[in-house]
Amino acid sequence: MYSLPTSCMILFFIFYRFHQILCASSEKEIGRCDALFQCGDVTAGFPFSGRNRPEVCGHPLLRLHCINNITSLIISNQEFYVLKINKTSNTLTLARPDLLGSFCSSTFTKVTLPTEIFELSPTYKSVNVFYLCDPFLSYPSSSKCPEIGPISLSEKPEYNNTCRESFTVNLPTSFLPEEKKLNMTHLESTLREGFEVKVNIDENACQECLSSHAFCGFDQTFPSGVKCGPLYPQDAEDIRRRCSASFSCGDQKDLMYPFWIPGREDCGHPDFKLECNASFAELTISSVKFRILEMNYSSRVIRLSRSDYISNICPLNPVSAPFEENVIPFAPDTEMLTIYYDCRTELTQSVSTYVGEISCHDDVRSYYVTRNLSSPLLSGVRGLINDFKGICRRNVSIPASRPALDTLERTPTPDNLKKALEEGFDLAFNEDCSLCMVSGGACGYTQISSRFVCYCDGWVHTNICDHLFWEPPLLKNSVNSN
Ligand SMILES: *[C@@H]1O[C@H](CO)[C@@H](O)[C@H](O)[C@H]1NC(C)=O
Ligand SMILES: *[C@@H]1O[C@H](CO)[C@@H](O)[C@H](O)[C@H]1NC(C)=O
Ligand SMILES: *[C@@H]1O[C@H](CO)[C@@H](O)[C@H](O)[C@H]1NC(C)=O
Ligand SMILES: *[C@@H]1O[C@H](CO)[C@@H](O)[C@H](O)[C@H]1NC(C)=O
Ligand SMILES: *[C@@H]1O[C@H](CO)[C@@H](O)[C@H](O)[C@H]1NC(C)=O
Ligand SMILES: *[C@@H]1O[C@H](CO)[C@@H](O)[C@H](O)[C@H]1NC(C)=O
Ligand SMILES: *[C@@H]1O[C@H](CO)[C@@H](O)[C@H](O)[C@H]1NC(C)=O
Ligand SMILES: *[C@@H]1O[C@H](CO)[C@@H](O)[C@H](O)[C@H]1NC(C)=O
Repeated sequence: MYSLPTSCMILFFIFYRFHQILCASSEKEIGRCDALFQCGDVTAGFPFSGRNRPEVCGHPLLRLHCINNITSLIISNQEFYVLKINKTSNTLTLARPDLLGSFCSSTFTKVTLPTEIFELSPTYKSVNVFYLCDPFLSYPSSSKCPEIGPISLSEKPEYNNTCRESFTVNLPTSFLPEEKKLNMTHLESTLREGFEVKVNIDENACQECLSSHAFCGFDQTFPSGVKCGPLYPQDAEDIRRRCSASFSCGDQKDLMYPFWIPGREDCGHPDFKLECNASFAELTISSVKFRILEMNYSSRVIRLSRSDYISNICPLNPVSAPFEENVIPFAPDTEMLTIYYDCRTELTQSVSTYVGEISCHDDVRSYYVTRNLSSPLLSGVRGLINDFKGICRRNVSIPASRPALDTLERTPTPDNLKKALEEGFDLAFNEDCSLCMVSGGACGYTQISSRFVCYCDGWVHTNICDHLFWEPPLLKNSVNSN
């Protein structure tokens, strides 16, 4: 049986609606493990703790500190700077702060990383640094430090008889010490880049926990080391309240999921961050700016347009931006308009209702296609469209709305093209979010499991607020693993 007594779990289950947590404080703390550690460019979740991630959220050897935007770890009384954390490969790039400056004035301390969780990445090797060596002998790959005398680098422990001391440094396997005279500058600059270690902690247990919408903490009394707990109820309630209120940005007053602004990270999808100024609410997708023209939950309208195409059908270097249709799908009447710029051809007459011509630059023609390129309606002009690929300098696909494209097809003028682009295109509401809101929840996102969540009265759910059919993961996990 784990630390939480059964009676306490049952009380927990009965009273969760009233946010009364009667159990040990670490139980509550696990509910705070949805927070990420953030410092400078470094972001970390499980299995790390530090800053707003309570100690219970991470392995005791992985407690991060943040000083002046520099992340560090203390391992075996030695401080290591954490230059990078790669969540995908489970690796850390570490550097010893005492080895970042002049090598000769470093502390020359022996430090070994605990092998229980750290393993040097295969692209790095341990190299011995011998010092306090017999000054009358000559050593390969050596240099002289002012106070210490000769030092020598070697991958083998071969000078342990003639040198009194040694310690190891971790260097890339590609680092080959110079045969005779060690190049200090080269060694110092390589050490400054740090070295990579793999963190051996089973993340599968945590993934399982996350998929039951709870958060991972750490408890070494558990076989996997992973302890699973729900979000701290008061936090969930605070987030629910914050996310159910709409927000303003630029000229838009009623914005909600998936859009967000700083302070509402939990309430929107990471790809839909808005920039607001006095006039507009804009978001950037693959370096392309989109402006929100309208968002109205009661009439279920979300309308956007490309900022670079507003009042300009020939912007400088336009590119296509793939839209995240699984976060926010296009409305049924949205179709892709494709413009082929600067084509080395001239169509002598109108070839199709679906292909029009514009002029952006002198001497070259540009053409647009008013239907999805996959549309069967284009079968008659398939050859021409394939030719465009080869003879036009650039193509851009832009979502537009069917009624505006219909007008453009009936009256193909540059002005109607401009209007179609300016009027923008409609998006449909995210289905998960609609269901969540109907059930009384607030739509949000959790960085920890990188997914949509529905914040309910004190609980977090995958889709809708349904207390009756939802089993608290804490209870499930503890009962199963007993
Ligand atoms: C840390 O970084 C943030 C944002 O990158 C910056 O605003 C802040 O001034 C930095 N603080 C220090 C102490 O360098
Ligand atoms: C993280 O590691 C993965 C797998 O080794 C690699 O593909 C990716 O490029 C790394 N990411 C960064 C930011 O280094
Ligand atoms: C010294 O080196 C020899 C091999 O060259 C090795 O057998 C021995 O264990 C080393 N001693 C220390 C203290 O490292
Ligand atoms: C020493 O290494 C530095 C940096 O790697 C390099 O620029 C320099 O040319 C090297 N000096 C010698 C003498 O090889
Ligand atoms: C708002 O931003 C847009 C471009 O992003 C710019 O054209 C406009 O002038 C800005 N308006 C104000 C009032 O700053
Ligand atoms: C949103 O749509 C509803 C219903 O169509 C309408 O009554 C309301 O005025 C709209 N709100 C805004 C801000 O346009
Ligand atoms: C046109 O393409 C868009 C984006 O790929 C898609 O969402 C839409 O369903 C397509 N419309 C038709 C009528 O094929
Ligand atoms: C658009 O241009 C790119 C190359 O720039 C090409 O790979 C792509 O197939 C073109 N797309 C269409 C729809 O013609």
